[in-house]
Amino acid sequence: MPVRKAVIPAAGFGTRFLPATKAQPKEMLPIVDTPIIQYVVEEAIASGIEDILIITGRGKRTIEDHFDRSIELETFLERNHRDSLLSTVRDVGNLANVFFVRQKEQLGLGHAVLQARHHIGNEPFAVLLGDEIFFGARPALSQLMDVYDQVGGSVVGVMEVSADEVQRYGVIKPEKVNEGLYLATDLVEKPATHEAPSRMAICGRYVLDPAIFDILETLPPGKNGEIQLTDAIRILGKWQPIYACEIDARRYDVGDKLGYLQATVEIALEREDLGEAFRDYLTNLLLTRSEVSR
Ligand code: UTP
Repeated sequence: MPVRKAVIPAAGFGTRFLPATKAQPKEMLPIVDTPIIQYVVEEAIASGIEDILIITGRGKRTIEDHFDRSIELETFLERNHRDSLLSTVRDVGNLANVFFVRQKEQLGLGHAVLQARHHIGNEPFAVLLGDEIFFGARPALSQLMDVYDQVGGSVVGVMEVSADEVQRYGVIKPEKVNEGLYLATDLVEKPATHEAPSRMAICGRYVLDPAIFDILETLPPGKNGEIQLTDAIRILGKWQPIYACEIDARRYDVGDKLGYLQATVEIALEREDLGEAFRDYLTNLLLTRSEVSR
């Protein structure tokens, strides 16, 4: 069965970005001029997804507004002949079939995914975390979907991280199938460095069998008292193969301040309208700063 639907969990508190996230969702923070979640939605669409469910929570209304039409704004731009901006604004409202459901209590990523059960039904589906973005020749999710088409089961996206970073991720025990493809024979959420089964970290992209919902329904809280998606996938692995696909793309954890800054600078440098002027600015800044520090 093809993967047609995707879930984007975006209900977390975003405590790493306080105070900016006290009254606005971190998923709406802009990378240059585009909210983070729009990059995620565009990746899903570029991967062939037709139906997107965003898991939101209290204080996340602006996400819904962003993917809605804004008739007043469109009328204003039309009247003032701002045609290019008008199509930018209209295009966002027409991106895909975007639906929303609220997670009423922030009980963890696994619990957020469980909120999608009714909408997804009994078919395989994709999960894209709302605070990680990827840039590469091929959309990150499409790489997992290709693996799923070939081997079935469930698929997690992985990337190698440094030994001191494993404690921030779900980590797999890999058994190599072929170049860039592994069987995950075990999964551990946020292991201590000395307990990690490898340095292959799960990074925000999944294709999951709907059997995951039955597991999530009864799963007790795990690390940090949260219902962990990694724990549910580990249990799923007892009945079906869990594959891990090494994602070939640049990845930014934009829910983290450093990752956010890196994404902003690199994407600004690649923009046709900004890149050259921004590059000159950064070069001058670095020259001036290094002279001052000498
Ligand atoms: P994170 O742990 O990165 O997000 O969860 P967070 O909790 O918002 O951020 P910090 O750590 O406090 O800064 C990964 C993804 O899961 C979603 C988040 O929105 C994020 O996209 N999530 C997490 C939920 O939707 N619900 C939850 O209960 C927890």
